[in-house]
Amino acid sequence: MQLTMFVVVPLVLLLSGVAIESATVKQKMPFEVRFPTKTGARILRRELDLEISNPKGKIKEVKVLRRRRQTTTEEQEFLDAHNEARFNVVPKAANMKKIKWSNELAQVARNYAQQCNWAHNPARTTDTKALTSQFSYVGENLYATSVSSVDPKSAVQSWDSEKSSYNYTNQACLGVCGHYTQVVWANSEYVGCASHTCPTFTGLPTSFNGGTIVVCNYGQGGNYNGQQPYMTGTPCTSCPSGYSCSNGLCVSGGDSNGSQTSSTTEDGDCFEGDGSNYQGQASTTVSGKTCLVWSSVYDFLPSNNYCRNYFSAYGVTEPVCYYQPGSYYVEPCGLPKCGSK
Ligand SMILES: *[C@@H]1O[C@H](CO)[C@@H](O)[C@H](O)[C@H]1NC(C)=O
Ligand SMILES: *[C@@H]1O[C@H](CO)[C@@H](O)[C@H](O)[C@H]1NC(C)=O
Repeated sequence: MQLTMFVVVPLVLLLSGVAIESATVKQKMPFEVRFPTKTGARILRRELDLEISNPKGKIKEVKVLRRRRQTTTEEQEFLDAHNEARFNVVPKAANMKKIKWSNELAQVARNYAQQCNWAHNPARTTDTKALTSQFSYVGENLYATSVSSVDPKSAVQSWDSEKSSYNYTNQACLGVCGHYTQVVWANSEYVGCASHTCPTFTGLPTSFNGGTIVVCNYGQGGNYNGQQPYMTGTPCTSCPSGYSCSNGLCVSGGDSNGSQTSSTTEDGDCFEGDGSNYQGQASTTVSGKTCLVWSSVYDFLPSNNYCRNYFSAYGVTEPVCYYQPGSYYVEPCGLPKCGSK
């Protein structure tokens, strides 16, 4: 037995004040740095165990762990299922953003899933605002099954399957379509999901006892009345400014297509110390490659900067960046040291 539930229309949009950022997030971050030596290069491969006290910026603690084989995490499965659905809309979407993970949305989803309540979390927006000021409205999809574990893909596919009832042209729906339109809401760039196995549920028959609830929260929430979830057209032809194209979806920052470049000299800024605190926008490596935004490599890292030295504990002495999606290889940004130029 399966059930789904979604939110149709956001009620009021209120801009939040100052965010309280008290969340502590633990994350692993594999990396590889090549140090030039007289005889070639020394390659350092490690996995950092990070404790991030403020997901927007500062890393508190860095420890080495033995590098492990990458496994597909539940988080990645939720993301992949969403992005697959977002790419496969019919008709095609011209402005569909690639969806990214939000630890804050996931934390709110986790807290709520644990309550085993088959009803929307009326506090999801305010709960999220207590962790981040990123979203003025948070959307939510729910899924419940009488089975004790859930595959993220099944939940997302059940929401996505409503597309057969949805007519894009006139937004007509035969039955329920709101989960689908939230999954493919072009402007919902972040998602955070959680599942929880519940001995009993509030709001569901006892036949669900021992089953699982899935909660996905979306920022910025979608399903605005009278709006279509996305613009139709050739994929990526209407990405917002500052976005580039990655596999038919719009991604912020970086440049996956080689069309835009910026140079460190143009940015004209410099770093101090070992570059751990550098927050500038310089985005080219010493060898001229275009840096990725950190958050496009690891969702838990900030999206507002490209060059940073997270590896100073390993003797790295200047800001570095990633330039290749899916690779752990980082390269110095070639920024000048302040005062030496
Ligand atoms: C969707 O709605 C439009 C406009 O009313 C109509 O012309 C079209 O046939 C509908 N498409 C489907 C698949 O029902
Ligand atoms: C971007 O990538 C697409 C797909 O590979 C390609 O067709 C297009 O020409 C590229 N655009 C630029 C500006 O390089």
